[in-house]
Amino acid sequence: MRNLAENNPGCNYIGVDIRDSYVRDALRVEPHLPNLHYVQANLTFNAAPVLDTLPKLVQSLSIMYPDPWFKPKHHKRRLMNVEFLGAIAPFVQQGAPLHFQTDSFDLFTEAEELLMNNPYFLRQVPDPTESPFATTTYFQRRTVHLESRNEFMLLALRS
Ligand SMILES: C[S@@+](CC[C@H](N)C(=O)[O-])C[C@H]1O[C@@H](n2cnc3c(N)ncnc32)[C@H](O)[C@@H]1O
Repeated sequence: MRNLAENNPGCNYIGVDIRDSYVRDALRVEPHLPNLHYVQANLTFNAAPVLDTLPKLVQSLSIMYPDPWFKPKHHKRRLMNVEFLGAIAPFVQQGAPLHFQTDSFDLFTEAEELLMNNPYFLRQVPDPTESPFATTTYFQRRTVHLESRNEFMLLALRS
């Protein structure tokens, strides 16, 4: 995110994670950039209150490597579901891209199904094969690339 914010000073970036320590570590990095902000929040329950603090509608949204919650009894904890999309939709500008990226094929197929069958976002085909970002996330560098895992991506536009 830092790279993106540095290279696109005209855009504001907000990173959200549930883990306090991740957000604190990110906030410690200097120099502070005026267009980069981090927020600690549980997006499953608080996506709308977080987005409601913004002065403008969101222009672009990226969900990068959300936790896969592999066990079937934990699937309900997965971030991407119709309730989450419904919660964020009012705060996202019409036509804005939602980029989803994962190393889990199971999560990918579930998100694919969701983005094909929801009233808020329209899945674009074909699926992207390359990340639209000229940078990589921490998880992507530390695990996906090191372990040569597959990456799956989806793009949808706010309808
Ligand atoms: C696999 S890591 C990916 C981290 C980062 N997006 C990246 O690509 O480097 C999944 C992240 O999702 C965060 N997370 C899990 N559940 C969440 C939730 N309900 N709301 C916000 N963040 C959550 C975790 O704390 C963890 O940092």
